[in-house]
Amino acid sequence: MLNSKINDIREKFLHEFKIAKDAKQIENLKIKYLGKKGLVQELMLFLKDATSEERPLLGKLINDLKQEITSHLENSIKRIALEEENSKVQNEYLDVTLPGRKHFWGKSHPVSLVLNKMIDIANSMGFSTETGPEVESDFYNFEALNFSKDHPARDMQDTFYITDDLLLRTHTSNIQVRVMEKFKPPIRCLAPGKCFRNENISSRSHVFFHQIELFYIDEHVTFSDLFATLDEFWFKLFNKKVETRYRPSYFPFVEPGVEADIKCFICSGQGCKVCKNSGWLEVVGAGMIHPNVLKAGGIDPEKYSGYAAGLGVERLAMLMYGINDIRMFTENDMRFLEQFSL
Ligand code: DAH
Repeated sequence: MLNSKINDIREKFLHEFKIAKDAKQIENLKIKYLGKKGLVQELMLFLKDATSEERPLLGKLINDLKQEITSHLENSIKRIALEEENSKVQNEYLDVTLPGRKHFWGKSHPVSLVLNKMIDIANSMGFSTETGPEVESDFYNFEALNFSKDHPARDMQDTFYITDDLLLRTHTSNIQVRVMEKFKPPIRCLAPGKCFRNENISSRSHVFFHQIELFYIDEHVTFSDLFATLDEFWFKLFNKKVETRYRPSYFPFVEPGVEADIKCFICSGQGCKVCKNSGWLEVVGAGMIHPNVLKAGGIDPEKYSGYAAGLGVERLAMLMYGINDIRMFTENDMRFLEQFSL
């Protein structure tokens, strides 16, 4: 009687085991047959009805069944785990020889690269760095620089006014008198920064750009000091001797004044969009500091003289990298910005 029950359960198990397909079903079989309230355990309960002669044999048969089921289930669990792993390896194939993906860490903006290089060069030549405000008073941007209120030269610098007296600085020359008020000669100073002008935006000019102001005030400073300094500066900046030309020019805060052009690298002087087909690029305005400006800064023009220069950073960056449109700098196109290093 119990004997045939044992056989029934074995057959039932073997049948269910055969059609079990996945780990879940195998697990269910384990609970159903080997669990605490499972079918095998249930068989044990019948043992107490057996005679004492039958009991050992029947006990052995139940144990055998238990072991048989256990070994079937365990083999199956192992096999399924292996299969799962194999299919995982197949599906998630990882080529460990592939090079890693590059992370983009960010880079300095090309204007910053050139600006910082210019600062480093000027520092190495003995100029110390000063900074001044971008929102400036009419006094430091114009008045103290010998632009009287109705001076026609103010028209050259299309100005963004905030109030009658407050404006966005049009040039870094606003730093000159501020520094003169702070230090006594000899003064050898550079001032980098942002400038703003209410101009039409084109490939060559923008409402927003950077300049570096360089100036030197001492006894007996001459025009040739200016040229020698600028020549050395270009040499260090471009790592080669560049062709320059100086033209007389007018700025109220210098006398005499000059503008310096560098032969256009982009077209080798043949003429292109960047140099307006002239073969030359204007990169600096400079001159001997006007006595009125020295006076405004509390420096005696009878005793001291000085030169000053304002360098256009974007123009120089365009020349260095062969960029023919100043608008690229402010468009935030990563394909453009990613390309630069020094
Ligand atoms: N500030 C002038 C401008 O932006 C450039 C300039 C000219 C600066 C002559 C100077 C200078 O220091 O001496 O147009």
